[in-house]
Amino acid sequence: MDAADDIADTAERPPVPGRLTGELTVRHPAPVDHARLQVALAGWWGGLGGEAGVLQRQLLVPRLFLQHFAGTSFLVERADGTLHAFLIGFLSQTEPDTAYIHFVGVCPDGKRGGVGSALYRRFFTLAREAGRTRVRCITSPNNHDSIAYHTRMGFRMEPGDRTGDDGVPVHTDYDGPGLDRVSFVREL
Ligand SMILES: CC(C)(COP(=O)(O)OP(=O)(O)OC[C@H]1O[C@@H](n2cnc3c(N)ncnc32)[C@H](O)[C@@H]1OP(=O)(O)O)[C@@H](O)C(=O)NCCC(=O)NCCS
Repeated sequence: MDAADDIADTAERPPVPGRLTGELTVRHPAPVDHARLQVALAGWWGGLGGEAGVLQRQLLVPRLFLQHFAGTSFLVERADGTLHAFLIGFLSQTEPDTAYIHFVGVCPDGKRGGVGSALYRRFFTLAREAGRTRVRCITSPNNHDSIAYHTRMGFRMEPGDRTGDDGVPVHTDYDGPGLDRVSFVREL
């Protein structure tokens, strides 16, 4: 059993912080984690979008998520305390049936090891227990890894106003001029 399986095994338990058997631990983030998350947001996306992309990602995870959405977010650390993965999510204030995954990241060495999906399953469990019946998230049309991953995780892409080069439905200027997005939804 690898470390990711350990996380998966605990996915149906209440999503509280705790040591997992194996090398990885999962807990809720805290404001003190902000600086290391900013470093991860700069380094883990393979330079996607250049310097502007790095700045956008960093600004998309301000400290407030670690202050006010910590209970629905997760952070994974290795035995030596270094950051391995994170998920920032919340329960919609506006739509009582909806939960929202705002950001997810797995360190480059940890990708394709089942950690991203384990964190998603954990969030799905939390959301179901809170009475939510659907999960939403968005990604950039040029983030092909994210699109492949979310499709594999059972999300469907909502119709957009145009079709991207690779056939994905794109919402033009979704988050502002030039900030196109792909919109995902998954029933729980
Ligand atoms: C996208 C990301 C979160 C996926 O996490 P992960 O731990 O690598 O994913 P998992 O190993 O749990 O994979 C889950 C499934 O998705 C598939 N998958 C993951 N990444 C994929 C990719 N790039 N292309 C195709 N399939 C992929 C896996 O093969 C697996 O499918 P399986 O169950 O059939 O084996 C991670 O690669 C990452 O952090 N990427 C950079 C940041 C990013 O783009 N974040 C998302 C947008 S905010």
